[in-house]
Amino acid sequence: MRKVRIHTFGCQMNVYDSERILAGLRPLGFEATQEDCEADLIILNTCSVRGKPEAKVSSMLGRLAPLKSRNPNLKLAVGGCVGKQHGQELLDRIPYLDLVFGPDQVGSIGELVARLYDDRVRLAQTADEADRDKVFATSNEDVVTGPSAFLSIMKGCNQFCSYCIVPHVRGREVSRDPDDILAHAQALVARGVRELTLLGQNVNRYGLDRPGLPSFAQLLRQVHEVPGLLRLTFVTSNPGDCPEDLIQCFADLPKLLSFFHLPLQSGSDEILRAMNRRYTRAQYFELVARLRAVRPEMHLSTDLIVGFPGETEAQFEETLSAARQLRWGSAFSFAYSVRPGTAAADLPDDVPAAEKNRRLQALQEILDECLHEGLVANVGSIATVLVEGDSRRGDGQLQGRTHSNYIVNLRVPEELEDQIHPGMVVKVKIIRPLLHSLRGEALGLVDGR
Ligand code: SAH
Ligand code: SF4
Ligand code: F3S
Repeated sequence: MRKVRIHTFGCQMNVYDSERILAGLRPLGFEATQEDCEADLIILNTCSVRGKPEAKVSSMLGRLAPLKSRNPNLKLAVGGCVGKQHGQELLDRIPYLDLVFGPDQVGSIGELVARLYDDRVRLAQTADEADRDKVFATSNEDVVTGPSAFLSIMKGCNQFCSYCIVPHVRGREVSRDPDDILAHAQALVARGVRELTLLGQNVNRYGLDRPGLPSFAQLLRQVHEVPGLLRLTFVTSNPGDCPEDLIQCFADLPKLLSFFHLPLQSGSDEILRAMNRRYTRAQYFELVARLRAVRPEMHLSTDLIVGFPGETEAQFEETLSAARQLRWGSAFSFAYSVRPGTAAADLPDDVPAAEKNRRLQALQEILDECLHEGLVANVGSIATVLVEGDSRRGDGQLQGRTHSNYIVNLRVPEELEDQIHPGMVVKVKIIRPLLHSLRGEALGLVDGR
């Protein structure tokens, strides 16, 4: 057996792609390892959304290069969004790098790696792949271990938010065929998966790139009916693309989690316009109200950016006030980071770094308050928890998630210990909030599951 070590950065799409990479390498006799020093192939599956991604990739490769003298068969590869963005240039600049590939080559990773070893060549392949079957080829069902799995339903993004590199590295929106999606969902469920997260940069635009495809809401309804599936959720959505039929899904589909990641980005209409976000603050507020009317327990989460070019103190205050009023259950907040090649890169990055940090901290204080409040609201309730595995806290407890996507660290009474395993749905009394999760006590299985 040869061993592959995959380092994954960035979004869920990359996590999913890393699973597909592993599945695509299995037929070549590769198995996964967590140790760089015992690997025959090390792949960095990279992200370029913020920070200094090329520098990070170069320094990591620099640290890994000496391993080649111990293992002459070791190959180093860069995939993901930095790979796509810099392609051949990386190969030219870094002599000990063997392979560069983009997100569209994940489905062909087996062929690429075979050529690397058989033909002893160095390769950079990052072109947009026109063949849809190849783009979505290689599924993750052979390598998924837990009861929850990702399933990609589309690739790319047409939105061109002015700060964002994603459309430049992931290309235009392409929807996967619904039959292929349903077959994949069934294959995952057959392997013991109980919860699916449908993936795309903006899943709400599923089906709009070709006539004859179902809408996203129609697709959700189809996947919802897969026998054996217990839970369904999706990421990510642009709040500007949330039609009524999608909101109706939350009323009609019991397996759909009460969870919605809806990135607001900024509370100021001027900044939203400069970001090319295509919705207003008022429209976002209205959407939240409609969702909470359909599912009062809805756990809303968001992404926010502070220090976008030209953001004034007053405009930043509008983001703070949005957080105070909307009270997201969870949120990710970021300091604006210039992405060369994006529209916003032409604007002066005029909020000083120290000021961005101050704004970020002020915002995070409120977001933490809301997070805590959301956790506390669960205390005393009896939740339905899908058990996922051992608790990360390493204290012999189990970990799972509620139907509103809150993580629960689960104490299991001795008399139930033999009955409760990953993949099962358990009735849980929520006892108290932890920092980012809940503490609960298992009461018993739900419906004998
Ligand atoms: N497709 C997803 C976003 C992917 S990027 C969506 O539309 O929701 C994840 C998050 O990174 C974005 O929501 C945004 O908040 C943040 N982000 C993207 N580009 C950024 C930049 N240049 N600087 C700072 N944060 C950024
Ligand atoms: Fe980026 Fe906007 Fe597309 Fe999300 S919707 S990936 S933020 S361009
Ligand atoms: Fe990063 Fe690419 Fe995802 S830039 S956020 S890994 S789409």
